[in-house]
Parts: sequence; C-alpha cells; structure tokens
Amino acid sequence: MKYGRFDDARREYVIVRPDTPTPWLNYLGGQGLIGLISNTAGGYTFYRDARLRRLTRYRYNAVPSGENGRYLYVRDDDDGSYWSPTWRPARAPVDDYHCRHGLGYTVIGSTCREIEVEAVYFIPSDRAVEVCSVRVTNHRSATAEISLFAAVEFCLWDAQDDATNFQRNLNIGEVEAHGGTIFHKTGYRERRDHFASFSCSEPTTGFDTKREAFLGAYRGWDLPIGVERGVLSNSLAVGGAPIGAHQVRLAIEPGEEKRVVFLLGYHENHAPKFDNTEHTALRTDDANSLIARFFDKEIIDRELNRLREDWDKTLGRLQVRVPVPEADRMINTWTPYQCVICFNVARSASGYEAGIGRGIGFRDANQDLLGCVHLLPESARRRLLDLASTQLASGSAHHQYQPLTRKGNDVIGSGFNDDPLWLILAASAYLKETGDWQILDEPVCYSDKPALGTPLYEHLIRAGEYTLARLGPHGLPLIGRADWNDCLNLNSHTNDPDESFQTAPQRTVGIAESVFIAGLFGLVAPELAEIATRRGDAAVAQRFSMSAAEMRRAVEAHAWDGKWYLRAYDAAGGRIGSQDCDEGRIYIEPQGMCTMAGFGLSDGRARAALDAVHERLLTDHGLMLLQPPYTRYNTALGEISSYPPGYKENASIFSHTNPWIIIAECLLGRGDRAWDYAMRLNPACCEEISDIRRCEPYVYAQTIVGRDAADHGLARNSWLTGTASWMYVALTQWILGIRPTYDGLMIDPCTPPNWAGYAVTRVFRNATYDIHVENPSRQSRHVRDIHVDGEAIAGSILPVFADGKTHHVDVTLGSAR
Ligand code: BGC
Ligand code: NOJ
Repeated sequence: MKYGRFDDARREYVIVRPDTPTPWLNYLGGQGLIGLISNTAGGYTFYRDARLRRLTRYRYNAVPSGENGRYLYVRDDDDGSYWSPTWRPARAPVDDYHCRHGLGYTVIGSTCREIEVEAVYFIPSDRAVEVCSVRVTNHRSATAEISLFAAVEFCLWDAQDDATNFQRNLNIGEVEAHGGTIFHKTGYRERRDHFASFSCSEPTTGFDTKREAFLGAYRGWDLPIGVERGVLSNSLAVGGAPIGAHQVRLAIEPGEEKRVVFLLGYHENHAPKFDNTEHTALRTDDANSLIARFFDKEIIDRELNRLREDWDKTLGRLQVRVPVPEADRMINTWTPYQCVICFNVARSASGYEAGIGRGIGFRDANQDLLGCVHLLPESARRRLLDLASTQLASGSAHHQYQPLTRKGNDVIGSGFNDDPLWLILAASAYLKETGDWQILDEPVCYSDKPALGTPLYEHLIRAGEYTLARLGPHGLPLIGRADWNDCLNLNSHTNDPDESFQTAPQRTVGIAESVFIAGLFGLVAPELAEIATRRGDAAVAQRFSMSAAEMRRAVEAHAWDGKWYLRAYDAAGGRIGSQDCDEGRIYIEPQGMCTMAGFGLSDGRARAALDAVHERLLTDHGLMLLQPPYTRYNTALGEISSYPPGYKENASIFSHTNPWIIIAECLLGRGDRAWDYAMRLNPACCEEISDIRRCEPYVYAQTIVGRDAADHGLARNSWLTGTASWMYVALTQWILGIRPTYDGLMIDPCTPPNWAGYAVTRVFRNATYDIHVENPSRQSRHVRDIHVDGEAIAGSILPVFADGKTHHVDVTLGSAR
C-alpha cells in the first residue's frame, strides 16, 4: 500500500495518510541547529551535538513510537473540542491531511470542522532558530473563535544525563518567561552560557512551563488538560520537567486566514552573561533580536525561498535524465539529499540513533564524503582535515569522535583496522573532484600527539603504513577489533552477556585476517601511489604500488576459495566465508571490494565471485550480506552471530554493500545486472510495498530483513547509512559513468543495453558539462566517440575548462570505429 507520492517538480514527498507504518522523518537545518521531524511533527532538535546540546526531549522507547515533538493543538472555543492539525498527538480524525517533506523543510496540514491549518517547519540557513509558521483559515460562514496551542518539552542539555540522573535533573530545571517568549535556562546559573527559547509572534493569552500543569497528572501529550480546559496557568517551572507551551486566541472571520509563528531558538551569550548584578537573570537582548527578526513573516517567506534556491543550486551541480523516473527522482533529489544529511550528522542522530554515544564514525564520515564532495567541496575540505586530526600518530584512528569537541571516543577506542584506509579513499575523491592539491600540504596534528603537526599527505601515508605494519600469517591485513563489518569480531569474542561486543577486550591478536581490508587496501594503495607520483615522491609511489601488487598476490594465493573470495581467517587460522563452512559460507563484502580493487578481472575470478553472489545472495529486495545465516551464537565470530538469522549483519540485506556489487558488475561490463540490483534496492520503487518495507520510500535504510526471517523485506534504520553515498557513486559514476579523475571528467558508462541514451548536467571544476549520451547500437558500454562543443576529442576524459561556461558534450556508445 502507498502512503504518499513524489512531487518531483517541487522536490517533495507528499504523505497523504498520517498513520505511516513508522514515523516518516525529515531533517531540518544541518550546520548548527538540526531538527528531525516526522510526518506528524514528532522528533527533536539539537545544536550540533545531540547529546550535549539537545534542545528538546525525545523518547526512543515510547509507545506509540515517535513520541515528543513540536506539537500543535487547535481548540474550538465554542464547544471545547480540540484536535492536532498534524494528527498527532491528539489523534482526533482530520480531513485532507498532508505532509510535504521537502529539502530542509516540512509542511504539515489538515482541515477539521472547516478550520484549515497548515504549519511550515524549517531552520533558516546559518540561523539557530527552528521556525514553525502556522496559517489558520476559517472556511465556516461564521466567525470562528479558536485557541491555538503550541508546545515543546525541553531537554536538560546533556541527553545522557537527562536519561539517567533523575534525582538531580528533577531539581535543576529553570525557566524565565517574558512577553511571548519562554526561555529555558537550566544550568545557566552555573557554567553554561547557552539557553533555549520558545516564542510566539502573536499576543498570547497564557503559557505553561511546568509539564504537569499543561498535561495534568497521568495524562500524555494526547490529552493535555490545559488544552481541554482552554486556559493555561502561567506556571513557572523550577526543577521538574520544563516545557514551553503557548496559547493564542484567534477570532477569524469567514474566509479569513491568520498567521502565527512559533520559534524554537538556541542562543549563546558571551560576556556579559547575566542581565543583573545578582547573576540570576538571563541577558536576552541578542536572543530577542533574533526572535524579532523571525517574527517578520516576509523574512520567513524569503528565508524559505532562499532555502529552496540554495538546494536547487546545490543539487543543480549534478542532474540526470534517464529512462526510469524512479531512478531520476532518487539521483536528482533524494539520494544527494540523504548524502548531505549523512555528511552532517553521520550516524549520530536519527529515529534509530539516540545521538548520545556514537558521535561521528571515522569510516562512516569518510564514506559519506564520497557522495557529497561535488556538492559541498569546501565542507568536504574541512571535514577531511578534521578527520585527519582525529587520527593517531600510529596511522590508526579513533573509531568515533564527538562532533562538538572533536575528541575521539575513548570508550570505543581504535583498532578497527579498516578505519584509516578510508581517509585515503576520501582524500583521493576530493582531489579528483576539486584538483585542490594544496590541501595535502595543510598541517594537521594527531589526536594522541597534539604537538605533532604533519602535512595531510603524511597522514595518508601513515594510514597506508598502518595496514602494512599489521599483516597476518598469510600476508593479509590483520582485522583488529573488526573491519567494515563491525560485528565480525574475531578477536574480541565474549561469553559474558553483560559485556559489549564493541568494547570487549581483544583476547587474541596477530592471527585473524580480513580479506575485506585486503581488497580495500588494493583499492586505495594505487590511489596513494598516484598521489605520490603527482607530488614527485617516487619512493612512496613505488612503496604503495608494490605493496598493492603484493596484496593482490596474497589474495590470489590465500583468499580465493574456489568459487568466491573468502571473508577472513579467524583467530585460530580457520576459514570464514568458505565452502567448507556450514553457515556463513559466502559473504558479500570481499566479492565487492576485491573486484573494485581490480582483483580477478583478467582471470575470471571476479566473474565467478559475482555470479556466486547472484546465485546465493539475491532476493527480491536486494542482496543479502551472507548465506546461510548463523543460527547459533559463536564466540569465535562475535556480535554477528548474536543476531537472529536475517537481521543486521547476520544475513540481512545490508544495503551499504549492494552498491559495491553494482560497481563491481560495472567493472565486468554487466550493465543489466548492475541496474537490476540498483532498482531492487531503490526506495522509490518500493512505495507500493510500504506495509512490508515500512520505512520512508524516499531514503535508503541500513538493513532490510533477509529471506531467512518471516519479516523478509522489512527495512530498518532509515536515513543514516553509507548506502546513500555509495549508491549515488554507483549510479552516477559507474552506471552513468560520469567519473571525476585527477585529470578531468571521465565518461565510462555501463548502462542496461536497451537504453537509447540519457543526459547529465554536471558542474565540475568551475565549468558546466551538458552531456548527452546516445546508444544507437544498444550496448552496455564502450564509448565510440565524444564531441566537446562540436569537436571530437581523443580518449574519454573531458578536459578541465574551469572557465565558468557551459560545454556541450555528445557521447555515442558503440564499438570503436
Ligand atoms: C551494530 C552495527 C554497527 C555497530 C557500530 C553495532 O551494534 O549492530 O551495525 O555497525 O554497532 O558500532
Ligand atoms: C554501521 C556502522 O556505522 C558502519 O561503520 C559499519 O561499517 C556498518 N554498520 C557495518 O557493520
């Protein structure tokens, strides 16, 4: 069943029923203030760090789910009935419900008792204020006397503490209320210099800041006593659970529309912090001027337009027209959008990630960069330098770091042996996109040696050397705590049910090896060699091209299982992902990564490996991570075997891995297969099965339950997944074949053979390439000729014009003449 539809022209997903199978989310803001908002206005807002600067509460384990948001209620003051125009939390029936999730904004509206209400939520660029702009229209023939209520529940800033330390937190809450603004200032009396505000543009008839005053004892957000009574109590919270609730009475003439704006703000005061000498009252003048600015409805409309224009401009850097509308809409809008969201919040804060513990993952952030570097080159540059600064002098990296402090997460630590290599991949993608070689000379310190600053270039070398210094008995890289597959814990197995797999001590080291890391090394070492060559550093170039060749030989000698690549050697030297295994016989990751590294392309092994993937891992919903699943917990494997068969790393369709196989298929020239895999996973092709898939049909989800479980096809952990950037790279750079290289933009398509052609507009190094590809002889690949501005060029790399102009590129596929 469908719950909505794509509005491609407006780049919106329009949800037409509020009772989606899960809360269907969108993100607001991105740089400083970030909000998550569901199709019924659930969600939460934080400033940069969802643990340390969370503005509003959210209850992950709430029943029903998605509880807490920025809630609205409309009360008919004639008879006291009330509803929520966003359906939740009141859940009274409404007509014409619609939610339009757009890029950086969400519009939710409905009509009830001939009162139409529509709320627009967004965070203006560069401003720490979340706008909720409400229009109320009276379609009755008589004047409507209504009250509009808006409410948020504040968080006590450190979300971790807020979720655990009740005895303290119930006694520290503090607020101030002036005019139409409620200030939440818990902790401000001591060391904080930041606070939140919730304000209303129109004169209010009352407010509440005590949650129990607004809701009433034993009531939830669906039945607030304050709304029921139609009168708020102007309560001032000290301790307890501070909220912000406003009431506005409106008399609306027939046909008239009124507008009310609610603002949720985050503010920082630098000296002076207080407004009085007793050091108790907030200094609010800066906050008030920000608030006043966004009470101006013209400014709001202008900022919303600016947001739309900014997104159009950003996404305009790569737009395509292919024969499949479900692909167009993902490539042109939703996937790059998801890439940018992942780039901004990594895996830290979503409907499934509490934003409390994990921070930014090192490997995740590097991979997220791959899908955004052409959209946000300056941010990508900063991110690369940030990431390198969390690297350790050994070349290793903290697995995760906190976004606010940039400190590595010491609980998880390092020792995920694939981590550092992703920095090389991200840096090479940045160089290919921008040609900004100067970045390699930027001095960057090491997290464990803050006084040691070396050029970024040396960070990359140390990342590569980290692998080479940790080779196992077969010359393959040691896996450490885990590789990309965080749950394949070959050294830190545990039988203690109270011990986390992620942090359990490594009881063995020095034997377990990862074929995946071997493949990843094979992919990135030649990049490092090429970078070194271009810097005139022949020694490093030679070291990494030779070590890449050695790695390939080690894989050929010790990682080929006869029909596909092995996954790993375990701590006892046993084979994982082998025909000899009863369970976990074939894993997807090494088949993708080794082929991407170019291994086995000339001797048929890559083809065999990918055929095995096709034969054993394919389902209607995508490719599973492994088969057969593990049915018993096995300490030698760790967390992977702790999941029920078909879930997560234990044989779900772990979406992130699918684009690797798509790219690998392109390397073999099998455009039909590559496309088929991409479309099976394409969320926009799954609208009709939303009751099975359950997640948003406009974004990829981390996992889809595999065929070994009854709920096969059920997607979980939408939004924050490396799938977005890899799928985007696979579709645009490998299937459509428009691929940045160090020397220019390469055209190397591998499409389904039956396509007549397609078009791509690509901004690359300050020029626009307007590319038309024709496929008269219905082939998958092979560029026959390329004309740039009417002139034939040799080879398949478009020149770098960097002249700010548009260049017309005509490509004809076919066999060479
Ligand atoms: C999850 C993995 C994830 C890891 C990251 C595990 O608990 O199951 O999917 O990669 O945490 O730390
Ligand atoms: C999610 C993690 O964020 C990512 O780093 C990891 O590679 C995958 N899970 C697979 O375990």
